[in-house]
Amino acid sequence: MVDYDGRMGRVYVAGRGMPAAEVRRWTAAFATYLPERRPLDVLDLGSGTGRLSPGLAEEFQGRVYGVEPSDRMREAAEQHPRVSYLKGSAEDIPLPEASVDAVLMFLSFHHFPDQLQALREVHRVLRPGGVALLRSQFSDVMPELFWYEYFPSAREVDAAMYLSVAQTKALAVEAGLVPGEDVVRITAEEPRTFGETYQRLSHRALSTFEYLPEDEIEPGFERFAADAERDPDRAMPVYDATTLVLTRPS
Ligand SMILES: C[S@@+](CC[C@H](N)C(=O)[O-])C[C@H]1O[C@@H](n2cnc3c(N)ncnc32)[C@H](O)[C@@H]1O
Repeated sequence: MVDYDGRMGRVYVAGRGMPAAEVRRWTAAFATYLPERRPLDVLDLGSGTGRLSPGLAEEFQGRVYGVEPSDRMREAAEQHPRVSYLKGSAEDIPLPEASVDAVLMFLSFHHFPDQLQALREVHRVLRPGGVALLRSQFSDVMPELFWYEYFPSAREVDAAMYLSVAQTKALAVEAGLVPGEDVVRITAEEPRTFGETYQRLSHRALSTFEYLPEDEIEPGFERFAADAERDPDRAMPVYDATTLVLTRPS
């Protein structure tokens, strides 16, 4: 289990911060899968440092609830007049039944210890016809990240954190949600150079580095740093984000 109240909470903003333009790209992309009416009330489930929460309030013009168990992550969150950050977990969401139009799980689902209970809670808090966006990797749909080459076990370590698409869909169905036929792919990530990517990753603000064998980390970062120093301005690939769209039937 990754401890977001510990080291990860200290480095998250430095290693995972998002510029405003990137936040706008994500929220505009989410809009294509959500009802068109405004305002929409949104639950940002596992909101962390609220990277996206204020942007969701701007895009969807309603109330946003950022539910997050880690005090350290919540305390770092940017405030917004229509965003309420609540201490809580996905398995026991501190909101009444049928209280939001949309739920975003942005790279948080794989951290939930009881994913079925979390999806039951998502079903409970969604209004009929509401939509949940589960943005995640899946064990059978993994991006081939270029930096895996520096850490021999990284891809395997990453894949082990995730359920497959079929497993995730089966849990959603059990929770009463209707999954889309296939995952959708969203391209919203900020393009970065080799140097910038190295700088961000060197904070080790990814769960991968919490699980990677210790003896791979230092040599991997040494090789990564040397390559980045040789070619700092090279444009690095931008990866699609796989997202499963789940609807609460009307
Ligand atoms: C990778 S971070 C993503 C945070 C945020 N969604 C973002 O994109 O910046 C994963 C978050 O899930 C939270 N988390 C872990 N277990 C959780 C649970 N059971 N319920 C809700 N959130 C949880 C962590 O504390 C952490 O803030």
